[in-house]
Amino acid sequence: MFAHQVHSTWEVFAPAKLNVCLNVLGSRADGFHNLESLLVPVQLYDHLSWSAASTPDSPCTLELASADRTGEKLSSADDNLVLVAAKRLADAAGIEPRGTFRLVKRIPQQAGMGGGSSDAAATLVLANAAWEIGYSRECLAKIAADVGSDVPFFLADGPARCRGRGEIVEPTAGLPPLHFVVVKPPGGLPTAEVFGHWKQHQTEHAEQSASVDSLLANLRQGKLRDAGRGMLNQLQNSASRLMPTITDLLREIESLNPVTCLMTGSGSACFGVARSAVQARQMARRLSGMVEGQVFAVSSC
Ligand code: C5P
Repeated sequence: MFAHQVHSTWEVFAPAKLNVCLNVLGSRADGFHNLESLLVPVQLYDHLSWSAASTPDSPCTLELASADRTGEKLSSADDNLVLVAAKRLADAAGIEPRGTFRLVKRIPQQAGMGGGSSDAAATLVLANAAWEIGYSRECLAKIAADVGSDVPFFLADGPARCRGRGEIVEPTAGLPPLHFVVVKPPGGLPTAEVFGHWKQHQTEHAEQSASVDSLLANLRQGKLRDAGRGMLNQLQNSASRLMPTITDLLREIESLNPVTCLMTGSGSACFGVARSAVQARQMARRLSGMVEGQVFAVSSC
């Protein structure tokens, strides 16, 4: 994720992510859960820009716009993670946040695709440049972890194994490009509710964890079918109980014969792993006529 300057405006493209594997290792005393997950950034982007305000003393503001075809309602600008991240960075640097951020949303919300977290990471990168702070990525990652569990991942610029509550990021080199069809059904799932359901029913979760090591080895060796067998999301059962249409959606994706299909993050979006970018686009065309919601063909980046 890099900030570019165009005349007096700075801009960043903020990618979405998919969890190709998500193990929930247990709940913690601080209310979070320990995870082990393999996250892949994908080529579906929000666009964040920043320009100086006309008067230097004006408060820092955020304008929100949606490029979302379903016209899904955007959460209000005030609690948006862009302003939260901007404030945390300014506090750390001992300056006042300033200027106008403009965010054009394409990544569906409450989808498990990391849109809000990616916007927050983009804000840190952009404001670090625009406000001439000059912090290193390591320093930004510490601030990022306070903003949200998935925010540090987006500073890594590539696939990564994430642990802890998500903030311990280990970039994974050497993965081939991956191609996906993604469906975001109407309606989203709040992350806290899905984890809350998992916690309440944790004694019922009999499912084995996926081995991220063997998943990575299979992906690196191009053994996509074996890799697909190792892809698993341990929040999927909880999310499907809260939103039964997820089960129907996965059945629809499965009917198109992907390598495998699963839910991303805490849902509600689900994806099929395709054998090629062409197959991902074919599945997207078919699914557009079969399911309600937004359908995307995306590749990893
Ligand atoms: O960190 P973030 O703000 O994205 O988390 C939102 C909520 O999701 C947390 O308040 C918590 O309830 C839940 N969560 C969790 N364990 C994680 C990440 C998130 O329980 N590892």
